[in-house]
Formats: sequence, structure tokens, C-alpha cells
Amino acid sequence: MSEEKAILTIGDKRIELPVFVGTNGDKAVDVSKLYDDHHLITYDPALANTAICHSKITFIDGDAGILRYRGIPIEQFDTPSPNFVEVAWLLIFGTLPTHEELIDFRVRLTNNALLHEGLRQRIELLPPSAPPMASLSAALSEMVCYYKNYLTLDDDEQFIEAAARMISTIRTIAAYSYRRSQGLPIIYPDPKLRYVANFLHMMFSYPYLQYEITPEVEDAMNLILILHADHEQNCSTATVRVVGSAKANMFSSCASGVSALWGPLHGGANVKVMEMLEAIYKGGLTPEHCIEAAKDKTNPFRLFGFGHRVYKNYDPRAKILKASCDRVFSKLKHNDPLLDVARRLEELALADSYFADRKLYPNVDFYSGILLRAMGIPTNMFTVIFAIGRLPGWIAHWKEQHDVPTNRIMRPRQIYEGNEIVNYIPVKDRVRVGSIQ
Ligand code: CMC
Repeated sequence: MSEEKAILTIGDKRIELPVFVGTNGDKAVDVSKLYDDHHLITYDPALANTAICHSKITFIDGDAGILRYRGIPIEQFDTPSPNFVEVAWLLIFGTLPTHEELIDFRVRLTNNALLHEGLRQRIELLPPSAPPMASLSAALSEMVCYYKNYLTLDDDEQFIEAAARMISTIRTIAAYSYRRSQGLPIIYPDPKLRYVANFLHMMFSYPYLQYEITPEVEDAMNLILILHADHEQNCSTATVRVVGSAKANMFSSCASGVSALWGPLHGGANVKVMEMLEAIYKGGLTPEHCIEAAKDKTNPFRLFGFGHRVYKNYDPRAKILKASCDRVFSKLKHNDPLLDVARRLEELALADSYFADRKLYPNVDFYSGILLRAMGIPTNMFTVIFAIGRLPGWIAHWKEQHDVPTNRIMRPRQIYEGNEIVNYIPVKDRVRVGSIQ
């Protein structure tokens, strides 16, 4: 809390409000007592300017295009050495794991990789064409049916085991949903393989033919998961916190995060980007037409993969992914005409005053799909991969909130603008005038 106070005047009242200062010097006016003390509420639709918590996990400077996990700049993870499991630990526990901690966590991940047979049978009851995000949300939520000791996670050992179970099993569930959608047999996890390699194995091996994992593909998937691992109070993470604030268990809270992520304005955007690039490539659309449609306020079309609530600069994750596309494509000698389409769209958008004035730049979803496609990941799995990456972030935020003794249930206010008082009318006397609103 700072010495400084914010002053709010309303009518003849002068109200002093406390001010918080973040690590980077950003100031936040504390309005939490405004209702109790003065019967006033604040209005902030879409929570665009409201801090809902104090957090030590991730820092973003949207104007400068900076992203740091526990203080480490995101660019430092763009080398072959850091891996997703280390980053998951970092986000959840606050520091990079020691060698022993990393080994211990890896053993837990290996031991928890198998899908409970009951859960596997439950997934089998879903139609093979089920959207993978729906299967994922349902399966995560149902995990507590099979591991009831995860309903309350008050001791450290219980928490770490539950976190390892969820982080490990999410990729088994994801791979299994994909295999079912293709009519392919389930591939069980291989304890000899590391996290990312094991996921690729479960996605692409056959019972009689082991998938050959190339280091370039493994590194690129590792990087994608790391870049998606946390992004402070984005829609899905805020959802996890809202649900968790009611003391809902970690699995249900993260399952709600999956549902939020599925939306096309959030994680579902990576699917929309690919559909847009494919439509352009197949000749149904031109890049110029996309740009014009996105600018047309009478047209609901948006340039997917562009714009961000927080970044008013190039999303640093998109920058890394764009460079990674070039690197991986040249190493794999892979060519994808959609990469040229994406580059052309970006070039047109960045040169257009509509996008420049609104500070709309490519976000993480613009290039991730092209990279995933190069690895053979089908489009309907893109958002699932985002969810696998984001899970440690959700867990970290659930834990941070759970560990705060002063946690209160989240419960926003509203400005009521409906009827004042009307009388109940028995059904026989009701007449509809006009249409239902
Ligand atoms: N195409 C065209 N216009 C846009 C776009 C876009 N992609 N994004 C924002 N705008 C316009 C918007 O119409 C508004 O214009 P005006 O000021 O004339 O009314 C202005 O820019 C500000 O936009 P906003 O809707 O107030 O921005 P927001 O912070 O509410 O929304 C967003 C952020 C990411 C939902 C939005 O930029 C968008 O819909 N982008 C496309 C979907 C997308 O790529 N989502 C992935 C986001 S990053 C990863 C993640 O979070 O999952």
C-alpha cells in the first residue's frame, strides 16, 4: 500500500481511496470499501480496468510488449534447453526447480500419465466426432469422481500429486480424444519418454509402429506449450479464479478454464485463424478482402489472431512463434503456402491506419496454428494444445488464490435498469404485447 491517496469527489462528498503500487510502479486505486462505506459501486464492463487480485506469477507490460514468468523474460525460454515441465514448476511454485525437484516432478508425471479406466470408458461414451474441447472440459471435471482425495487440497503433498496428475493426464485425454475421432486405437503413455515426446507418441504412434520423434518437432511443441503457459488475468484464468473463489476444487475450476478458453475471442482464435488462412489460400477470400471486412463495422468479421486487450504492441509470443516457424520450416525443409498468406495479411494490416490507430498487432494465435500444422496436428486440436500449455498457469493461479487466507468469493455488482415493481399476473390473464425481449 502506498502513502499516496486517490481523491474521489461525488456531490459534496470527498472520498480518500488507498492506492496500491505494483513492482513496476503501476498504481491501482482500491475501491473495495466504496460500497460498504459510501454505498457507491464502480462500473467497468468486461473488467477491462479492474485488478481482481494481487499476483506474483506473471508480469505483462502491454505497451512495451513485455511478458515475464516469475520475472524471467519470455525470450529466455526460446532456446532448446528450458522445457515445459520446468516452466510448469516455475509458475506453480515460484522458482525454477532444483535438479532433485525436477526429477521428483518428472517421476510424478510419469506415474500419473495413465488414464483411469473408468474415465477412459466415460470418454468412449462420447461420440467420436465430439469437439475435443468439450471432451477435455468434461474429463477434467470428472477426474475427481475417480480420485476423491483431490477434492480438498490442503496439504502440500496432496496438492503436488494432484497437480502432477492433472498436468500429466491432460495430454493423455487430449491424445485419446484425437485417436477416437480418427477411429484409431488408444496408445498408452510410454514411461521412457519425456512430457512432450510422450504426448506426440500418444498422438501419432501405432501399436505396431513407434512414431519417430524429430528433435525439431519436439522443441517446437515444447516452445508452443511454454509460450501458452500463463498470461495473468486472461479470460480463462480469471474464470478459474472466479470458480475457485467459491472454494470449488482445482479440477472443476480448471475445467471451467477449458470452457472459457474454447471461445473464438480467446484460445479458439487459433482455429479461426487457420480457417481464415485456408479460405484465402483456396481462393474463397483475398487478404485485401479480409482486411476490408475486418474494418467494416457493419460486418461481424474480425481479423482473427490480431489485437489484444493488454498488448498495444507486437505480442512477444507471436514474435517468437513467427521466428520459430521460419527456423522449423527450414530445418524440416517444410513448406506451407499458408505461411506466405499469413505474412501477406500481417504486412497489409500493419500498413493500414485502421490497425495502426487501434494498435492491433498479431497475437499468439496468429502463427501458432501454422507451426502446429507443420507437426501434423489437426486444426480441431489447436485449442486443446493451448489448454495443455495453459494448465500450469491455471493451477498456479488457483493455488495462489487458495493460499491467501483472506480469499473472498468473487461477486461483481451490476447497474440494475429493469422494472421497478410490477405485479404478478395469473397465466389466464396474460396478454403478450410486442415480442419477447
Ligand atoms: N479485427 C478488427 N478489428 C479489431 C480487432 C480485430 N481482430 N480487434 C480489435 N478490433 C477493433 C475493435 O473493433 C475496436 O474498434 P473501435 O474502437 O472502432 O470500436 C478496437 O479495435 C478495440 O477493440 P476491442 O474489441 O475493444 O478490444 P478488446 O480488448 O475488447 O478485445 C480481442 C480484444 C483479442 C478480443 C480482440 O482484439 C479480438 O476480437 N481479436 C480477434 C480474436 C483473437 O485473435 N483473439 C485471441 C486473443 S490473444 C490469445 C488469447 O487471449 O487467447
